[in-house]
Amino acid sequence: MTVQPLTFVHMTDLHVNAPGVSDDMLFSDTTETLKRTLSEIKRMAERPAFIVASGDLTNHGEPEAYATVAGIFEEAALDIPVLFALGNHDRREGFVVGFSDLHQDASQPYDHDSVMNGLHVIVLDSSVPDEIGGYWEAGQMDWLRARLADHADLPKLLVMHHAPMVAEEAPEMEMEWESLSLAATNELRDAIKGANIVGILSGHVHLDRVHHWHGIPVVIGMGHHAATDAVALPDAFHMLDGTGFAICTLRPSGLTATFAAHPQSREIRKTLTMQMLLEYIEQRKAAAAE
Ligand SMILES: [Fe+2]
Repeated sequence: MTVQPLTFVHMTDLHVNAPGVSDDMLFSDTTETLKRTLSEIKRMAERPAFIVASGDLTNHGEPEAYATVAGIFEEAALDIPVLFALGNHDRREGFVVGFSDLHQDASQPYDHDSVMNGLHVIVLDSSVPDEIGGYWEAGQMDWLRARLADHADLPKLLVMHHAPMVAEEAPEMEMEWESLSLAATNELRDAIKGANIVGILSGHVHLDRVHHWHGIPVVIGMGHHAATDAVALPDAFHMLDGTGFAICTLRPSGLTATFAAHPQSREIRKTLTMQMLLEYIEQRKAAAAE
């Protein structure tokens, strides 16, 4: 039975490293930010039914980084279920070590679903090793179709690190690394036809952003790492001091996401160039090939 209104939390892009790791691609103290978010959740007057963490749980995907994430959640002792998704900064090989109770086969995407107080939450793994953008592997959309047929009477919430592409009508204007690819966006659209989807929760672009995608609200969180400077886009990619999470409420009338920002200066922490992003992809591919 659906219990409404239903309150839950959306956090994303945790980008946690193991203690002591030196990392010139980390622009804020993400460990402290995760602790801060968890203490804010503790402070919530209305206890959330569950927490969604929609990918980029770690900055580089080492087992020790996942163990650190798990340890921080454990230490917070919230006793609230957490649904994890994987993003492009994650590595399944690390995740299966750090979260061996959740996923065991690193060759398979981490797709899973659960029913939370009458809401059917379906989490899809849109990460592909050594790619920044989001794609589906063979079989994932069939798996989604089968899940959508389960609990047919319940509303569905989808979670995926990469949101659907916004400007499907002008894909040449989009950069596929910012979202699901155009092909993956279309495959998702086909798979969910006719389903009662109350929303899609995503991360990846480090912006608080809401868009409507064929009638479905897509909620993207700024995350825990560094905020993209929306004003400077698309000419410059400034990563600003800015973090936060969202409190979501599902009512019979639909989904609300209330963004809860942490204190932030919005100062530039790093300016990324396309060249740096391309070099980063090359580095990851080279490291994976070793
Ligand atoms: Fe991220």
